[in-house]
Amino acid sequence: MLPNEIALNLINEYIVKFKNKQDFENNSLENLKEELINKLINNNMLIKTEDGTYTMISEDSQEMMHSKIGALREGVEKFVIPSNLENEELPKILDLCSGMGYNSIASLRYNKNCKIDMVEYSKETLFLSLCLDIPFKEHEIIKEVIENHLMSDENNNNNNTKNKNINIYEGDARQILIDLKKSNKKYNIVFHDGFSPQRDSVLYTVDFLKNIYELMEDGGILLSYSSSIPFRSGLIEAGFIISEGEAIGRKRGITIAYKNPKKIRSSNDSLENKKLKRISEIDERVIALSTVGAPYRDPNFNLCHEEIIKNREIERNNLKENLLKKGIYYSTRQIKLGKIPEIYLEIQKENLNSTEIIKKMRNMLQ
Ligand SMILES: C[S@@+](CC[C@H](N)C(=O)[O-])C[C@H]1O[C@@H](n2cnc3c(N)ncnc32)[C@H](O)[C@@H]1O
Repeated sequence: MLPNEIALNLINEYIVKFKNKQDFENNSLENLKEELINKLINNNMLIKTEDGTYTMISEDSQEMMHSKIGALREGVEKFVIPSNLENEELPKILDLCSGMGYNSIASLRYNKNCKIDMVEYSKETLFLSLCLDIPFKEHEIIKEVIENHLMSDENNNNNNTKNKNINIYEGDARQILIDLKKSNKKYNIVFHDGFSPQRDSVLYTVDFLKNIYELMEDGGILLSYSSSIPFRSGLIEAGFIISEGEAIGRKRGITIAYKNPKKIRSSNDSLENKKLKRISEIDERVIALSTVGAPYRDPNFNLCHEEIIKNREIERNNLKENLLKKGIYYSTRQIKLGKIPEIYLEIQKENLNSTEIIKKMRNMLQ
């Protein structure tokens, strides 16, 4: 899913004008940006959030690019602070669905040593960042990288700016991750900031998450605002150890997932003894025992959201039939209420993290 099409078309008109900027004086360029922002605001396509920064509407009018608590605040509180990048010697960040760059800007604010690879489908969203006033001075760094990227040849994903620490990869994240793997890139922090899996599951499939996993170093951390059950289930299948972060502007906490958290992440941040906050006991049971725990799949990276959802429904039905045959099918309601054999509930009392509990419960279903 992309931002609203009418908004993207309008922004595109301004990209063309911007590219012909030789014809303009500097102040007319500023007027041009202001004109675009005003048009988007007046057409309710660009919305001010509670921290004063702006978000854009998506193709689905129900979903904005950010929550109303603040586009920049989300970057700081849902991604940067929980990643602990402030204390990382060398944060190597993969900023998936980087949009206007709020998460990258916030990262640089907290640690100027960040190396960042931004991945974004829509050049219009990147361009919009050039027209916004985002109140961290690090916005200037990101703006320079975006401007250089947009002014270079079409589809040229090489960084031709003076800033060698930040790259922009424009295109479908599914393909870009395959390319990044070929170039042996490794990250210790991944921001996963796609639209919600309920409306766009393509970046939440086991297959996509496996590619992220392969691109990460041991001890690396992935953050997502989404607490979706099939997403968390997919993370476990892809190899991650999942945990939950604070709930910010929502009822449910963010998802924090680690690759091999026992390995030491950096000299001053050993995860060895870190207690991973468990997801709720209800969610553990639903992921492990209910058909709701069936993850999204896209083995050849060519399915659209609707196909992924349809295939998941088939997988859920097959799973149900299988469990019924074995006489160990429990409805999601029973599972949520804990009306299941005590042996499953006992596992949840053991001193294990959520991933270990889910895997142990699932083994009993085999
Ligand atoms: C929720 S917004 C992310 C906001 C962003 N992090 C920011 O700071 O502004 C989702 C973004 O994902 C992008 N997107 C959607 N599908 C994508 C895909 N397959 N590959 C790369 N980017 C995608 C959209 O264009 C949109 O900018």
